Amino acid sequence: MNIVEVRRLSKQFELHILKEKRIQALESIDLDIAEGEIIGLTGKSGSGKSSLMKCLYRTYLSSAGHIFYRTGQGRVIDLASAGDHEIIQLRKTEIRYCSQFLSVIPRVSAVDVVSEPLMPILKDRAIAQEAAKDLLERLGLPKGLWDAYPVTFSGGEQQRINVARAIISRPRLLLIDEPTASLDTRTKDVVIDLIRSLKTAGTSVLCISHDEYVLDRLSDRRLHLQSGRIVHSIQPSL
Ligand SMILES: Nc1ncnc2c1ncn2[C@@H]1O[C@H](COP(=O)(O)OP(=O)(O)OP(=O)(O)O)[C@@H](O)[C@H]1O
Ligand SMILES: [Mg+2]
Repeated sequence: MNIVEVRRLSKQFELHILKEKRIQALESIDLDIAEGEIIGLTGKSGSGKSSLMKCLYRTYLSSAGHIFYRTGQGRVIDLASAGDHEIIQLRKTEIRYCSQFLSVIPRVSAVDVVSEPLMPILKDRAIAQEAAKDLLERLGLPKGLWDAYPVTFSGGEQQRINVARAIISRPRLLLIDEPTASLDTRTKDVVIDLIRSLKTAGTSVLCISHDEYVLDRLSDRRLHLQSGRIVHSIQPSL
């Protein structure tokens, strides 16, 4: 069964400062994501990958088309037109987005940044923090940093916080933008293992990456974007 069915999705930006110049970021995208499927999304810089992901997460409002999402309870919600309240609920319970860069929350420790998405589910800070520490340990973040503020962390350390925060609550749909760009191979392998174990539990994943190493090991299927259109879909022959 599909968890997401995108139909004729378009997104354009109007740049008012440039005399109403328009950028067509996405053009009539059709895309199905099956339950438990991992899709690798590729394409040149500027081809629309992050825009597609942000339309799914509703950071961006689509200009046209539909994004049908099937909830855990079997309800179908059009993410392109649903009310903000509904979107906020889905973000709390089912859909997680991991951005290209960590947007750090000032004066919140690494453990708290990572455990925060679990709080509405577990309602127990100590247990949520244990789960966060467990993940940080697997991702090789030095123990000395667990109680520190991620604002001073290196790129790769921040990226691990970002990934841990996105997966800790085991979302039904994980949208993940370049999760491994600043990681060494050993840590990439851990991220790949963690995401694949979510898949085993039924999570569907859309993962933007330029990294062949990661795409080969992670994705069930690849989609390639060119100038806002899906140009081909590659099914690995494994
Ligand atoms: N908020 C915005 N306002 C105006 N234009 C935007 C906005 N977000 C994206 N764009 C434009 O839409 C196009 C697609 O951008 P997008 O960020 O989706 O590309 P991308 O494939 O993720 O690139 P990269 O690999 O560099 O991250 C680009 O031309 C970009 O300038
Ligand atoms: Mg991008």
